[in-house]
Amino acid sequence: MKVDDIEKSSKKVCLKDKYRAYFPIGTAINSEMIERYGSIITDNFSSITLENEMKFSKIHPFEGEYSFEESDRLVEYALDNKMFVRGHTLVWHESVPDWLFNDNNHIVTRELLLDRIKEHIHTVVGKYKGKVYCWDVVNEVIDDSEELFYRHTPYYKIIGEDYIEKAFQYAHEADSDALLFLNDYNVCIGHKCEKIYKLVKRLKEKDVPIHGVGLQGHYNINYPSIDAIRKGIERIAELGIQIQFTEMDISVYGYEDRRKDLLMPTSEMMERQAESYGRLFELLREYKDVITGVTLWGVADDYSWLHDFPVEGRKDWPLLFDESLCEKDAYNSVIDW
Ligand code: GLA
Repeated sequence: MKVDDIEKSSKKVCLKDKYRAYFPIGTAINSEMIERYGSIITDNFSSITLENEMKFSKIHPFEGEYSFEESDRLVEYALDNKMFVRGHTLVWHESVPDWLFNDNNHIVTRELLLDRIKEHIHTVVGKYKGKVYCWDVVNEVIDDSEELFYRHTPYYKIIGEDYIEKAFQYAHEADSDALLFLNDYNVCIGHKCEKIYKLVKRLKEKDVPIHGVGLQGHYNINYPSIDAIRKGIERIAELGIQIQFTEMDISVYGYEDRRKDLLMPTSEMMERQAESYGRLFELLREYKDVITGVTLWGVADDYSWLHDFPVEGRKDWPLLFDESLCEKDAYNSVIDW
């Protein structure tokens, strides 16, 4: 064996290579994470989502004033490293600046709000045309309850339900090659999944340019069952559009578990988490024909939004790398098969 061959055969296969024939594996990052995680990101992930830097209040904090510094930096980083960029997100009821729904101390009219959304989407999507390959055009627009269909956000209350199709149209006008997604959580819950199904079906019937549904995938070690996730995938797949898992993490706490005092996860938690990740990725591989991307919401357990949710200031360990940036059993269960 030549030295080169030995090196090749001993080089460990990383996540993105292992899944090359399946789907891009992504992670959500910010600028600090680029420095901190270095080659862990570039070795393992072939796609990135900007954690917050493209959200409305970050990128367009004041009327007529955009702030592209951070988003530019992250997009350039991704392109330099030959990664895909998922755009996240154009219309969401959170992370909105105060000025958006306000006009001279009155609630903005439907017409003015539509103009503002159009201008925002045209500017942001237009700026990253050819660089960002897909967009979460609308995020979390479906209500969680069985009674209401749409979430009653200011967008919905001021404009009416057609704000959704308008947002897709504006995004398509700005970049006709971009893949356009509706992103939401709890697609594993029957009634929510049905509402998403109905909405997307209606949009497609009206020729609204929508290409996929994003399933956020914020799970925990008890929930949801693989069967429930499978049912969600199958139902959405009937629409003949793409599915992406867009924000995956697996908390070590069941949702009802509000303990605050754990300094370390128990070994049982870690085992169950590794099993959950393993089973989940096995399922995703099974549906590779319809799943076109899987993104984790972070890289390592030193930094996660779950350190403040659902219990403020509580540590969680939801990702594939531990706090010392070593691969966890969860990582191995996703890669060893
Ligand atoms: C939602 C949003 C994401 C992110 C996560 C966790 O799911 O879509 O952008 O903010 O919550 O914080």
